[in-house]
Amino acid sequence: MKFEKNILCIGAGYVGGPTMAMIAYKCPQYRVTVVDINPARIAEWNSGELPIYEPGLDKLIQASRDKNLFFSTDIKDGIMDNDIIFVSVNTPTKTFGAGAGMAADLQYWETTARQILQYSKSSKVVIEKSTLPVKTAQAMENILNYSNSSVSFDVLSNPEFLAEGSAVRDLENPDRVLIGSRETESGLKARETLVEIYANWVPREKIITSNIWSSELSKIVSNAFLAQRISSINAISALCEKTDADITEVSRAVGMDSRIGGKFLNASVGFGGSCFKKDILNLVYLCRHYGLNEVADYWESVVKINQYQQERFILNMLTAMFNTLADKKICLFGFAFKANTGDTRESPAIFIARRLLEEKAEIVITDPKALRNARADLAGVNGKISFVEDPYMAAEECHAIALLTEWEIYRNLDFQKIYSTMAKPASIFDGRNILDHKRCYDIGFNVYPTGKPALTHF
Ligand code: NAD
Ligand code: UGA
Repeated sequence: MKFEKNILCIGAGYVGGPTMAMIAYKCPQYRVTVVDINPARIAEWNSGELPIYEPGLDKLIQASRDKNLFFSTDIKDGIMDNDIIFVSVNTPTKTFGAGAGMAADLQYWETTARQILQYSKSSKVVIEKSTLPVKTAQAMENILNYSNSSVSFDVLSNPEFLAEGSAVRDLENPDRVLIGSRETESGLKARETLVEIYANWVPREKIITSNIWSSELSKIVSNAFLAQRISSINAISALCEKTDADITEVSRAVGMDSRIGGKFLNASVGFGGSCFKKDILNLVYLCRHYGLNEVADYWESVVKINQYQQERFILNMLTAMFNTLADKKICLFGFAFKANTGDTRESPAIFIARRLLEEKAEIVITDPKALRNARADLAGVNGKISFVEDPYMAAEECHAIALLTEWEIYRNLDFQKIYSTMAKPASIFDGRNILDHKRCYDIGFNVYPTGKPALTHF
């Protein structure tokens, strides 16, 4: 069968896999190939057990795989055979050398740019899907246009705004699709090619275009604004705990101002995920690079408050449990960085688990989807750790439950039954404010919500 367009995505991760699955599903007239250097990951994409858990994703994959959606390790052929290339490789925080702990590590991205140059025999549209520092497209262009060959490259920026756990919904019905390009004749033509792809299912008015630098910057700024809201509400949750105000009531009152809006105002144990911290630190690094130290300090405080919120959670536990956690058994309800994903990257649960072990507590971890990652995250860490799938069994004989992920199943557990098997006095620390606190208190628990007065029997 002859396809209208041949599309390649380099990087089969949380973004590359779902994004390409959606394009293939919505556009059976296009052939979509996803390649990766990790053969195990590709094998999983080709198997019955996908490498990531994302509601609704298996349906998309089943509908298109081996029809117009292909997963492969053959990067060379992928580049030669396709004219439209998305780059969706990881861009983690640099851990070495200049900018360590702050700047984006662009080594995977640069390797990809060089491979595209090496294997291209015809002109390509190259699309930055990864989140990158502003001005990266310039470097991409410099690498791609270095040789004198007749092959030409147009670089576009098309950042991804999906959130994990709701990726399929976000991709199907995005708030906006952003496409940045050079404002040259060929840049605008390349932009149209990409607009045409999205226009198969996204209303035109939601596909917005901009210059390429605005597009690159808007992605990082969007994440910084979202994280800033969480740190703002978390900072106020600390004040609520001192003043008997209730953070849920404050969020509702503040969020009903239509200029502020109610989303992303849920106080929590802190934000996690692979991107918020990384992207803000990248923004901070860029600001410092340009001598904007006050701007850098402002954004860095968002990350500092997030760290403070996690440490505060531990200190609250310590204070509530008579200033010692040594030899106490604590059950962590949830290890994923949010509900509906198995992803644990930068999950507050990792920090909390390590801190509890430092305090010589014994920990039992339960999570419906993230136990495999939790095991890997805590491999080699000293202390007593166990992983138990069933939350009822996990809580047995524990002195406390620390609820860290807002999985729906935790709301509906039989807490009477759980209480009866726990050591007394039994405490619940609700890092997500999803439980019925009054009911748990009535059962006998001492209940410590986030940003609300504690309910204790002392
Ligand atoms: P990921 O680590 O899940 O996937 C990246 C993949 O790229 C890996 O499978 C890796 O093996 C592969 N890779 C690395 N170098 C390669 C190379 N040279 N050739 C082929 N494959 C290579 O990362 P992710 O979560 O999908 O994120 C990718 C990018 O998208 C990042 O820049 C991230 O900031 C951004 N982003 C992520 C999300 C999210 O929800 N995870 C959302 C929006 C944007
Ligand atoms: C986030 C953004 O929402 C996406 O738009 C973006 O594309 C993505 O980062 C990215 O660039 O990687 P994600 O990290 O998957 O998506 O999930 P979010 O729903 O944003 O949650 C991030 C963290 O904030 C989670 O730990 C979540 O529990 C926490 N959170 C969220 C709160 O603590 N309170 C809230 O009110 C909302």
